[in-house]
Amino acid sequence: MIRSVVRGMGAALPRRIMKNADFEGMVETSDEWIAQRTGIRQRHIAADDETTASLGEAAARAALDDAGLTPADIDLIVLATSTPNNTFPATAVDIQNRLGMHHGFAFDLQAVCSGFVYAVATADLYIRGGLAKRILVIGSETFSRILDWSDRSTCVLFGDGAGAMVLEAGEGAGSIADHGVLAASLRSDGTHKDKLYVDGGPSTTGTVGHLRMEGREVFKHAVGMITDVIEATFSAAGITAEDLDWFVPHQANKRIIDASAKKLGIAERKVVVTVDLHGNTSAASVPLALSVAVADGRIKKGDLVLLEAMGGGFTWGAVLLRW
Ligand code: ACO
Repeated sequence: MIRSVVRGMGAALPRRIMKNADFEGMVETSDEWIAQRTGIRQRHIAADDETTASLGEAAARAALDDAGLTPADIDLIVLATSTPNNTFPATAVDIQNRLGMHHGFAFDLQAVCSGFVYAVATADLYIRGGLAKRILVIGSETFSRILDWSDRSTCVLFGDGAGAMVLEAGEGAGSIADHGVLAASLRSDGTHKDKLYVDGGPSTTGTVGHLRMEGREVFKHAVGMITDVIEATFSAAGITAEDLDWFVPHQANKRIIDASAKKLGIAERKVVVTVDLHGNTSAASVPLALSVAVADGRIKKGDLVLLEAMGGGFTWGAVLLRW
């Protein structure tokens, strides 16, 4: 059977690093509060010339280099983002053009922080359905542009960045030993749409708006939702937490990551954590974390890797793959 196999990874981060202490003159907060409640120590913030498209392009080029491929080899670009350069056209098409790619097709996918997990699951279906052979799956965000910088309960949590993955059609035996995407489980429930949202949009206010979040409410739901969807993925693949080599969760909050891993029985040494370095980069957080763990040699060919995310909507999901 056809499997969607990871061929390359890449990342891109804005030049400017903002440390927790840099907030201390802006809002009433402290490095200690932010680090203790979230695990975040710093985040990258985009300059005017750094956009979702430019960061996405840079991450895509890095992933293509890692794969030993060029844009000519790609059939489809799926960009997960909630902070597009424009309301339309899709920023994926902008990235396609920046890459000098004038064949194939490209589209954006919007599932907030779950965007990359949704995008990998979607790309996998395009590959297995025979509609594409090589896909660039990108998560790119500039959440700094939609933050209310006077709201201490949200502005300290997010950062900008991009990560990209090249998926390629490969042959598998149909077993858990195959390389590539092995199982995925996606969920959403709009009951919670007002707990984490942006208070603007083309069809309502005609403005971009700012991020609003009931942090405590999100926290309350997060661990249960994450563990449910992961258990569904384990059961679809016929594995347990013990079989995993690496758990690469959405990087929103170290306390949510720790509580989810503990509830699932995933050993701490198998958990990839980059929230300290990047903050919450929404759809970019999982591919950024993957890029770090691949670059430093932790994730190796043959490893069984679990991706997970939860975000606005709520949306949530998990993808199991063998590197
Ligand atoms: N600095 C200092 N104090 C603060 C700050 C800050 N930056 N932010 C809030 N506080 C205060 C609050 O005002 C509150 O004060 P009060 O008790 O006088 O009212 C106190 O700290 C406690 O606030 P809580 O919201 O209860 O703090 P909590 O421990 O829940 O931590 C946090 C807040 C970090 C936001 C947590 O709730 C959280 O991580 N929630 C999940 C958020 C998340 O994961 N979001 C991403 C989802 S992904 C996506 O789709 C974008």
